[in-house]
Amino acid sequence: MEFRIVESLNAVEMDAVAVPVLEDATTCDPRFEAVAKPLFAGGDLPLKPLETLLIPGSPKIVFVGVAKSGDPESWRRAAATLVRRVKRVQRLGFANGDTRAIVEGALIGGFSVEAYKTTNNRQSVGTIFLSGVDPDAMRQGAVLAESMNWARALINEPSNRKPPRVIAERAREMAASADLSFEVLDESAIRDLKMGALLGVGQGSDEPPRLVVLRYAGNPSSSKHLAFVGKGVTFDTGGISLKPADGMEKMKYDMAGGATAMAALRTLALFRAHINCTAVVPLAENMPSGRAQRPGDVVHSMSGKTIEIINTDAEGRLILADALAYARRLGATHLIDLATLTGAARIALGPFRVGVMGNDQAFIDSFLSAAKRAGEKMWQMPMDDEYRDLLKSTVADVANSGGRFAGMITAAKFLQEFVGDTPWLHLDIASAAWNDEDKPYLPKGPSGVAMRSLVEFAMTAYE
Ligand code: BES
Ligand code: MN
Ligand code: ZN
Repeated sequence: MEFRIVESLNAVEMDAVAVPVLEDATTCDPRFEAVAKPLFAGGDLPLKPLETLLIPGSPKIVFVGVAKSGDPESWRRAAATLVRRVKRVQRLGFANGDTRAIVEGALIGGFSVEAYKTTNNRQSVGTIFLSGVDPDAMRQGAVLAESMNWARALINEPSNRKPPRVIAERAREMAASADLSFEVLDESAIRDLKMGALLGVGQGSDEPPRLVVLRYAGNPSSSKHLAFVGKGVTFDTGGISLKPADGMEKMKYDMAGGATAMAALRTLALFRAHINCTAVVPLAENMPSGRAQRPGDVVHSMSGKTIEIINTDAEGRLILADALAYARRLGATHLIDLATLTGAARIALGPFRVGVMGNDQAFIDSFLSAAKRAGEKMWQMPMDDEYRDLLKSTVADVANSGGRFAGMITAAKFLQEFVGDTPWLHLDIASAAWNDEDKPYLPKGPSGVAMRSLVEFAMTAYE
């Protein structure tokens, strides 16, 4: 899908023109008054949000309802719904609204999850024409949504096609195209650094782990350095603590945090943000095998702390333990990790909100308000000391599982062991990273959640 700014929507031939109508409106864009007036008079307009009304002709006119709040999310949803609904439309005009949100929405809605269908691929909109809009808003929307779609495509990829070395290669290509510096640690480099927790998770797989580092230095004179640390489990069988078969196929999305962290960095680099930011992505496949780690094993993390493996299915926190410690070693002054970390996050918050935890309330508050501006729903969870007690181990410094209670929180308490006094924030995106139901504006599949908040926070609250 591409976007073109034209002088007028009549200047080029189009298959259809989309005309947004606010929920309670009595008029729409005056250029379409002639068609719209009788429809308003007859009660066919306005529309409810996400409703569409198609008037045949050449071009077709498609009215689309926009929620009365008129916030960016309402425009994104309207544009996304429209591109998902129209058929046989190659060239689509879009009457004015929130340009950046329209461009974002159209690209996000246009994303196809049917990557491996050999027949029946839906024909998507080719070109969207806009007139009288700000070219910067258009470009920003496109960069952001294309980054998000880069992450979604990787998350949607089946795990036989994305072992750690392949994701590292994809990251390398993306970094080259976005002018990011790229570095990858292979298994022997990971061993040299004594990342025993990451190695332990990866050791059951024939595909060895990797650790990817992307760097963007947009403000060399600043001493602040933000790191996004994203969980990159390329497939999570649970390991020896094997998961039930039912629904296990979805565990291909267990690298969503890693993909999203890298996509956020891509956006910041292409926006030329005035900040220093690094993405650290530990990649491993969690498999059962004769070499796999066992419950009861003890591993030595890079930080020096020892960890007793109670449950090999609590692997995300293990690879993040080493990655967080590594991000600190690289000089990060602020840490944000994001991970499909616990089933408990889905139980507690449903697929609607991301769980937010951390060790610095001011940092959390400023992130939560960025998330709100970005239109992503999040919710803070408590982090009292008592929860740490659930992670006591008899043989090691800490256990990797805290049992049945407060699973989302004990996972965060585990991570906290590895961040020292660095301001740190943890996003459990297991809840919202996968969209279980088709929505008018979003296909079932990877959502790309949290990327927009990371970018908004980095651009407006950080510097
Ligand atoms: N990747 C899973 C968490 C998950 C579950 C993500 C469902 C998305 C949907 C994670 O590695 C995991 O298995 N967590 C365990 C932890 C437990 C063993 C302490 C869980 O949540 O059950
Ligand atoms: Mn697991
Ligand atoms: Zn996992």
